[in-house]
Amino acid sequence: MTRLLRYNSAAPGLRWVGLTHGPEVPRALLYQPPISPDYARLGDHEIVERVTAHKRALGDRLVILCHHYQQDDVYRFADFTGDSLKLSQIASAQKKAEFVVFCGVHFMAETADVLTDDSVKVILPDLSAGCSMADMADLDQVEEAWDFLTADCDDAIIPITYVNSAANIKAFCGAHGGACCTSSNAPLVLKWALQRGEKVLFLPDQHLGRNTACAMGHPLDSMVVYDPAEPDGGLTREQAATARFILWKGHCSVHQLFTAKQCDAIKSAEPDRTILVHPECNRDVVQRADLVGSTEFIIKTVTKAPPDSKWAIGTEVHLIDRLAKTQTDKDIRSLATIQCLCTTMYRVSPQHLLWVLDELAAGRVVNQIKVPTDVRRWSVVALERMLDNVSSEPVAIASTNTPV
Ligand code: 13P
Ligand code: SF4
Repeated sequence: MTRLLRYNSAAPGLRWVGLTHGPEVPRALLYQPPISPDYARLGDHEIVERVTAHKRALGDRLVILCHHYQQDDVYRFADFTGDSLKLSQIASAQKKAEFVVFCGVHFMAETADVLTDDSVKVILPDLSAGCSMADMADLDQVEEAWDFLTADCDDAIIPITYVNSAANIKAFCGAHGGACCTSSNAPLVLKWALQRGEKVLFLPDQHLGRNTACAMGHPLDSMVVYDPAEPDGGLTREQAATARFILWKGHCSVHQLFTAKQCDAIKSAEPDRTILVHPECNRDVVQRADLVGSTEFIIKTVTKAPPDSKWAIGTEVHLIDRLAKTQTDKDIRSLATIQCLCTTMYRVSPQHLLWVLDELAAGRVVNQIKVPTDVRRWSVVALERMLDNVSSEPVAIASTNTPV
């Protein structure tokens, strides 16, 4: 593992401290210390009692945030639940809390740290809860791509990063006139970007970038994919110069598991079952789906649907299971026949949650996620631009299925 201290000449004063690692080792796995084996021996009843007692004792000083993909055994302790956008808004609204325990993944905890006051300590119960998509865009690679794309290019390029990215990538975007987006407001942020420049570099999820730009009416041939593993991203100068959207070659390992074949099988066996997918899915899945939208859009759409309606949903399994369990008047199942599980989010266990609370009760803050000051300075710019471009309701990325 190499420690990096970086200076960015395009944005004087911007220095990053980051960590690099071999591609085969998830970044955060390197950090999590083992917790006492005693936690594994605790019964569920005892865990519930002890977490509840800590919550009572800490009162307003503690806020527990949970992403919708979190397992139920952790989710039940949440003070607030949400998707990435909603949790960012909730985090930024915390004025009384001293400790925010974030039951999500690393980039979400970083975002909460950036959006809360300096006095708030953000804690991730298991540091191995990373995100494979966020790890697909490394600052070195992004800077290299930027040098290639901006050389001999008169067009203004606006870098946009999905919130599922490391804080230093957000800082890069903030420092270069760009912004963050989430799947709930990607169309609004892309519109914002295209009012400011001719081209967009979209990081790190090619699918969210492509699906959003297509839904806004941009043709596929206005987009190219930049592969950081290839020299010059695998692009010729001409391809880079003529493209309107440069999509980073990244993806979500969970949403990648949904396929066009699964959609076709459902459409032929059960034409009355509505296919509803997250925009992190591949283009051919999104084209076959009836509805496409963020986590919060999925929840709202299914919740408002009539009783007896039938759904095949393409997103993380814990959310689908929860919808099926809580909305028993509807027939809700996963689009896939295999379990599409976010294994990194799943690392946040009730035992790890209890451990961080036990430590807080003993006066020790463990697993604090602290974004370095200079990274924070520019990532807050990108995040504030994201929060300035929010609609009152989560929007569909595409409201009807488009011809394949
Ligand atoms: P949203 O929470 O923005 O829908 O994103 C889904 C996801 O993959 C979270 O990591
Ligand atoms: Fe990352 Fe995908 Fe898990 Fe979201 S679901 S945290 S994008 S790996």
